[in-house]
Amino acid sequence: MIQLRRAALWTLLCIGASSCTDEQVPPETAELPALPPLADPVQQLRGPERANRELTLVFSGELRGEIEACGCPTLPYGGFDRRAELLSQLAAEGRPMIQVDAGDALLKGLVSQRSDTLPRATLIAGLFSEVGVDVFVPGPSDVVAVGLPELGGLGLPLTSATWADAEGSLLYPAFRVVERGGLKVAVVGLSSMTEAVPTNKDPVEALRGALEQVPEGIDLIIAVGNLRDQQAQAVAAVPGVALVVMTPGEKREALRTRARVPVMEVSARGRYLSVLRLALGTEPARPLLLEEDRSFQDWMRLKGRGELTPALQLEKERLEGEVDLRGLNRGWMEDRPLGAELDPKSSSPTEDMLAQFKADTLEQAARTVKTPQSSGPHYGTGAKCVSCHSHQVAAWAVRPNHARAMEVLFERGEQGNPECVGCHSTGFGEPGGFAAVDKKTLQTWGNVQCEACHGPLGGHPRDPKAVPEPITQATCTGCHDAANSPDFDYEQYRMAVICPSDP
Ligand code: HEC
Ligand code: HEC
Ligand code: HEC
Ligand code: HEC
Repeated sequence: MIQLRRAALWTLLCIGASSCTDEQVPPETAELPALPPLADPVQQLRGPERANRELTLVFSGELRGEIEACGCPTLPYGGFDRRAELLSQLAAEGRPMIQVDAGDALLKGLVSQRSDTLPRATLIAGLFSEVGVDVFVPGPSDVVAVGLPELGGLGLPLTSATWADAEGSLLYPAFRVVERGGLKVAVVGLSSMTEAVPTNKDPVEALRGALEQVPEGIDLIIAVGNLRDQQAQAVAAVPGVALVVMTPGEKREALRTRARVPVMEVSARGRYLSVLRLALGTEPARPLLLEEDRSFQDWMRLKGRGELTPALQLEKERLEGEVDLRGLNRGWMEDRPLGAELDPKSSSPTEDMLAQFKADTLEQAARTVKTPQSSGPHYGTGAKCVSCHSHQVAAWAVRPNHARAMEVLFERGEQGNPECVGCHSTGFGEPGGFAAVDKKTLQTWGNVQCEACHGPLGGHPRDPKAVPEPITQATCTGCHDAANSPDFDYEQYRMAVICPSDP
């Protein structure tokens, strides 16, 4: 029971906390190696007639281009290898399983690969297919990553009731019916508004329209996507859906208390998979009771207690009546961290795909580095600055931040990983920069050097075109993004790196 309560607390925290994007998960959760095995409430509720109406729904969303475990030490979870492993564990539970991604998956904000987004998008589409994503609801950043025509060509199971062409015809199917283990689930896609598509339909109208088209004989109807909070709230008020699942928003607490049906938020950046185990009722659009249902929770708690006082025994029976009265439509949502214990033991197809992608990235970086630099700025590298700016170099070298950024990659054996190198070095994959990740090259280019902040300064101070770039917050946030630097505060961080003036 202690285990269950801990898990319940965790789930509630992460479903309920108003600002619970994955970057803001309370720090103590980072120390949880893995959640203990759950006592499974659905299992406990199962009677003989319910056995064939169980379903596991698996959600991801706002992956933002993350394909492997985050390098950051706070939440080093994630990755498609581990995702595949967890999915096979879930499949072994024997329930039919459906996997849905809520969108904003394809674009990564990595400084060194700004212009190079199609290969990553193609890889992620392939990985989705490999791990068995049944429905993908595209988000605005997915169009930014590849453009509208290319998005259609990636082989993703695109679904959106809101995005239409100039004539108002939908670009993709409004919903998909996924049939698994004799159960039929209709997933309506609700993409967020973007200028990148010709027509954006109103989500409430779009959902209503889609629901009219959903055929007979469906066991569950859900709406999934990447709407803003207010719109998510509006669609949750539309009769006909049992559940609304969205990428992270800002005001989930308010949503949860006001909405007619559960509005759930998936965990971003692929660090967790959101797993929802359901016992289905007979009404496809009947609201689901989730773990936030108080009487259900209290009942579970008392049930796990063993000996009860007569008063508590009565209370338990009362709750039992209430729980039973509300029927079968209930479920249990868990955010499962993709931690190291899920690392596959042998090589896997996803691993091969990642290895190929990284090899291609390094090749592409090598081509970009050789782009002719006749007029544009080029790098001088840090060693050249010391003769004239020894004061600043000395200060930089002893600070516990940028001068050892490459060392921490060596310590972890990740110095050759193009997914990490871009932010822990200077000029990776940039014209006039570097692309080889051998030890000797990294000795020259490794670490966050002077030119990572001041801009390429080859030829300075003689060349009048080589002038230091002004330093702003944007200088930092290419590397200090929300995933890798969750505590980033510009003023505070700037104080810790500002170079001293000459004495
Ligand atoms: C988008 C840029 C970015 C990428 C990509 C990135 N890092 Fe980092 N990393 C950072 C930043 C910024 C920090 C410092 C965060 C802070 O303290 O606020 C950091 C910190 C770290 C630290 C902690 C260093 C210390 O002093 O303890 C480690 C370890 C690390 N990264 C490893 C990795 C690995 C491994 C990868 C690849 C899987 C990776 N990083 C990819 C930007 C990045
Ligand atoms: C041959 C000596 C020399 C070398 C080498 C040199 N600098 Fe300078 N740097 C100067 C001088 C002189 C100035 C001041 C005049 C000017 O602004 O051009 C200056 C100005 C600067 C400034 C602007 C300071 C201010 O007052 O705003 C920055 C930043 C800077 N250098 C960075 C670098 C970096 C980074 C490197 C290495 C890539 C480097 N410098 C290499 C001589 C040098
Ligand atoms: C993390 C970013 C960062 C790095 C890395 C960095 N600097 Fe600076 N530097 C700053 C900031 C911020 C200032 C303050 C002036 C400004 O905002 O432009 C500054 C100022 C300077 C100045 C002008 C100092 C003065 O007030 O006269 C020089 C010269 C300079 N840096 C040289 C260097 C050299 C050389 C290196 C490499 C050893 C280096 N910087 C690395 C951020 C950085
Ligand atoms: C090229 C990528 C890159 C850029 C640009 C960059 N940083 Fe960093 N920064 C890192 C990495 C990587 C680390 C972690 C290094 C380590 O600890 O080994 C780091 C660490 C730091 C730390 C130490 C954080 C801690 O937890 O102690 C501070 C402070 C910091 N950076 C400030 C800044 C500021 C301010 C700017 C912009 C003016 C900036 N950085 C620009 C990559 C970058």
